[in-house]
Amino acid sequence: MKLRVDLLPHGGYSDTVLVVDILRATTTAVAYLERGAEGLLLTASPERALALRDHPGPDGEPVRDERYLLGGERGGLPIPGFDFGNSPVEASGRNFTGRTVVMNTTNGTGAAHVAAQSGKHVLLAALTNAHAAARRARARAVEEIAIVCSGTDERVSLEDAYAAGVLAEYLLAMGDFTVDDGARIALTVRRNLGNPLEALSSSGHGVHLDRLGLGEDVRYAARISESTVVPTLAELQDVEGALR
Ligand code: MLT
Repeated sequence: MKLRVDLLPHGGYSDTVLVVDILRATTTAVAYLERGAEGLLLTASPERALALRDHPGPDGEPVRDERYLLGGERGGLPIPGFDFGNSPVEASGRNFTGRTVVMNTTNGTGAAHVAAQSGKHVLLAALTNAHAAARRARARAVEEIAIVCSGTDERVSLEDAYAAGVLAEYLLAMGDFTVDDGARIALTVRRNLGNPLEALSSSGHGVHLDRLGLGEDVRYAARISESTVVPTLAELQDVEGALR
């Protein structure tokens, strides 16, 4: 089986894809499902998310559909009109039972959409669910597993490369793979940076989040394989990707 790592989303996936955006979209998506969310919808724009939740009432005033909660960010800060930002720490402290969370973020949800354009199985992976995600991907894949790093603002992100290396290590322990240069780069990053918290805290986006007072999210995202929840993109409906 082939193992491929794209340090930025390139598309053209034909089998199983692990989408990685550990600061913070995929870490937060795992937290939503851990906390009882019935499903996740990944929209292509904030406007689409707002249109899903708010409908014109009889008097023309917007009426909220309480089934939906909107979470997302731009530049790490909550999107105006959304119910909350994109903090896994905040998500882990709430109860989402009976609710569907609609996500739109700077990089992560877009990467999931790129993967879903052709990928047969699209799974969301973080450090927090890394072993479970690797195991699920190995069970689903036929010929290739692609680990797709979201990056940050269309530039390679250190933390996603590190997480791809952790996933690659798990996968290599599960079976025989031929690895591409991207996978070798990710493994080298993982093996040279060692401690996950140091790796994430030293990344550009980790430093940015810490400056915003969101350093607790970086510490949360560094916890390896504490969750067995693996958000799976069931199908790309309209512009949303339904995850369960
Ligand atoms: C992303 O999509 O890159 C992340 O969600 C950014 C963030 O949450 O700070």
